[in-house]
Amino acid sequence: MITVKTDKEIALMRESCRIVRETLEFVGSNIRAGMTTKDVDDMVNRYILSCGAYPSSLGYCGYPASSCVSVNEVVVHGIPSERIIEEGDIVSVDITAEKNGYNGDAARTFMIGNVSDEKRQLVKVTEECFFKAIEGLKAGTPLYDIGYAVQTHAESHGYGVVRALVGHGIGREMHEDPSVPNYGRRGTGMRLKAGMTICIEPMINAGTHKVVFHKDGWTVTTMDGKPSAHYENTVLITEDGVEILTL
Ligand code: MF3
Ligand code: CO
Ligand code: CO
Repeated sequence: MITVKTDKEIALMRESCRIVRETLEFVGSNIRAGMTTKDVDDMVNRYILSCGAYPSSLGYCGYPASSCVSVNEVVVHGIPSERIIEEGDIVSVDITAEKNGYNGDAARTFMIGNVSDEKRQLVKVTEECFFKAIEGLKAGTPLYDIGYAVQTHAESHGYGVVRALVGHGIGREMHEDPSVPNYGRRGTGMRLKAGMTICIEPMINAGTHKVVFHKDGWTVTTMDGKPSAHYENTVLITEDGVEILTL
């Protein structure tokens, strides 16, 4: 079901999204080579709880952690583990926090120390994909214009756009309708309405768009083992534009 939020609900979304943003800023200033992905998850868990919020990932469909920490060839849903983060890695950290019944969801890909030009460029273009997607976005825009913008930008750099996973609506539930693919035909799909809150989250691969779903039920990696980057924000659609709630 697609939900359009009232002003009161939007105020609550803003609060949850602020916590998500602050948590990611905190992780960004503290993530280091030598830490395990579990150490990162512990930071996320403590920070979100200290804000009086709940890390919605924890227990979601049995997911065992407060964040998804996805290193290099891991596209998304990396389960925090004893894997050690190394100099030169790119690490996507994706978190969802719930407070007063509403969720905020965002992800950043952090570069650890000196990373290769290939990885740096991938991270940069993935962020650009998000900003291309919100250019001109407002009430009345056809939904698949978002994917069109992401795909056009990513493919112009020779990158693969992940199709097997998509963005989504968000609110009381972490995942609400509609699905927000990162590919699509311009001018198609439902028209967005003011008051809708959606997560736009390009997942961009250096090589093939194809991915592998692992037996642990969560981890998704690139099929060719090349790196992947992820960038996500929760966005409010308004009459004349968007408000990025997690930035
Ligand atoms: N935050 C992810 C998203 O952007 C969802 C993670 S679900 C989890 O949609 F259970 F893996 F955490
Ligand atoms: Co997310
Ligand atoms: Co999301």
